Amino acid sequence: MAFIAIQRVALTVVLLAATMAPALVPCYAELQRFERSPKADGSLSLLVVGDWGRNGMFNQSEVATQMGRIGEQLDIDFVISTGDNFYEDGLTGVDDKQFEESFTNVYTANSLQKQWYSVLGNHDYRGNVLAQLSHVLRSIDSRWLCLRSFVLNAEIVDFFFVDTTPFQKSYWANSTKHHYDWRGVAPRDTYISTLLKDLDAALQESTAPWKIVIGHHTMRSVSEHGDTPELIALLLPVLKSNGVDWYVNGHDHCLEHISSKDSPIQYLTSGGGSKAWRGVFTPNADKLRFFYDGQGFMAVQLTRSTADLSFYDVFGRVLYKWSAPKFLHRAV
Ligand SMILES: *[C@@H]1O[C@H](CO)[C@@H](O)[C@H](O)[C@H]1NC(C)=O
Ligand SMILES: *[C@@H]1O[C@H](CO)[C@@H](O)[C@H](O)[C@H]1NC(C)=O
Repeated sequence: MAFIAIQRVALTVVLLAATMAPALVPCYAELQRFERSPKADGSLSLLVVGDWGRNGMFNQSEVATQMGRIGEQLDIDFVISTGDNFYEDGLTGVDDKQFEESFTNVYTANSLQKQWYSVLGNHDYRGNVLAQLSHVLRSIDSRWLCLRSFVLNAEIVDFFFVDTTPFQKSYWANSTKHHYDWRGVAPRDTYISTLLKDLDAALQESTAPWKIVIGHHTMRSVSEHGDTPELIALLLPVLKSNGVDWYVNGHDHCLEHISSKDSPIQYLTSGGGSKAWRGVFTPNADKLRFFYDGQGFMAVQLTRSTADLSFYDVFGRVLYKWSAPKFLHRAV
């Protein structure tokens, strides 16, 4: 219901803009795009880590060491961060030393000296959000790239990074002890309707065989935070209608693979970058394939026709592996 209403508002806005000024572009901004190519053999390898920035504490450094080792083995092309980049309250500004202490000085392995593509988590929103989005950080460490929502086109796969924190209504209540930096976001409804419209358009344009959506918050999870109802109500319909393969998130400090019962979507949690071991397990109706309530990270290897994922623990041991083929339409 809410989604239909949002769609209608967005459509009205576009129609209105078209009627009033046909020569002008629609008044919503498109998602920013980045491009990269697969390796010469047509494959792409990457690591996914979330919920990490704690000055190396809570096994963050151990996870980083193993990411470096596995990253070398797999000859990774880049790293994805699923958010909650800096604890407890994001960065205070572009001069916050935590950027170096929790990022630059922790992920030091050669194989990790690649581009990092990051989204924001709720803890990042508790600090100065604009600092994490700033070009200044990129001049301190050129690996860093954090935007609210954006698209990464990589020929065999398109990644859609989605800013999920504004979806969660409880963060907007202003009654809690935490302050959220909503600069450039408020009001919530307009922000979300524009974002969903832009995402839908970008997904419809996508011709890559694999479509992977990255956000901080859980869609389906058996751990501490469980599902995020706002994402199931608002974001999931857009993913389902556009044939998205995977939704990848952090937020719960664990590693998970859940298969949807009513769509081909796979829900993958990689939120084991530092503090973990919450001791919560609440099964849901979808098919739980793997759950590890501890630290680690995910590795992904893609070709046009296959996807392989593995979860690793703090010792670099493989905890779980999963492969999926992509059945492509044959050209006639
Ligand atoms: C670090 O990892 C080890 C091995 O999984 C675990 O036993 C230990 O509790 C972890 N430490 C913290 C602070 O989570
Ligand atoms: C909370 O504060 C934000 C901006 O600081 C505002 O946009 C929002 O409407 C407030 N929410 C409530 C429920 O008062």
